[in-house]
Amino acid sequence: MFQKVLLLFITGVSVTTLGIAGCTAQQQDSAAEVQPPVLTAQTEAPTTTTQPQERPGDVPYVPTPQPVVDAMLQVAKVGKNDVLYDLGSGDGRIVVTAAQKYGTRGVGIDINPERIQEANANAQKAGVTDRVEFRQQDLFKTDLSQATVITLYLLPEVNLRLRPEILKLKPGTRIVSHAFDMGDWKPQQTLQVDGKTIYYWVVPKEVPANLR
Ligand SMILES: C[S@@+](CC[C@H](N)C(=O)[O-])C[C@H]1O[C@@H](n2cnc3c(N)ncnc32)[C@H](O)[C@@H]1O
Repeated sequence: MFQKVLLLFITGVSVTTLGIAGCTAQQQDSAAEVQPPVLTAQTEAPTTTTQPQERPGDVPYVPTPQPVVDAMLQVAKVGKNDVLYDLGSGDGRIVVTAAQKYGTRGVGIDINPERIQEANANAQKAGVTDRVEFRQQDLFKTDLSQATVITLYLLPEVNLRLRPEILKLKPGTRIVSHAFDMGDWKPQQTLQVDGKTIYYWVVPKEVPANLR
């Protein structure tokens, strides 16, 4: 299984950027699930306390290269009225870049407490802690209803597991995935950046029968 996952990333990601971090546990932050998406102003470093990870993550940590992050945000045309959720947010680069460049409010979800700590430190360095929040949480247990944009860099089977939940979201919600598609749900746009593929969808008003 591990070899299969590794192969997928090697084919989708340059070997030099491959940096798999140990995924040992899961944490469910049910309090965080009910937090409203409107973020409160913070002038100090976020005081998020992380919990031990209780189960391995579903995807290894591999960061998206910055030019690909920039292109993902451009294709989704993120703006200051958006609420962006990055599912499996790693070091927070997608959420932090969106806040820095476009004033977008963002929520990063990661199961790994080390990633949450890194992401909070990066938000602090970038001066965007008033617009972003990182939650140590399982992405499959996350309420996505407030998202206007969702970014993904996961795995094909994880995208497929998420697809029914994504298709229940508000029509018009934009989805951007680095490297992996959504099976029969054909993207509205596909682009190549530095040898990586980016897929873009918009949640339709009517979900086709084959995708339900
Ligand atoms: C390939 S990395 C992507 C990081 C970041 N989104 C980026 O593009 O740079 C996938 C991330 O998903 C996290 N992850 C894996 N399974 C998860 C789960 N069930 N819930 C939340 N995060 C998860 C990992 O810890 C890792 O940081």
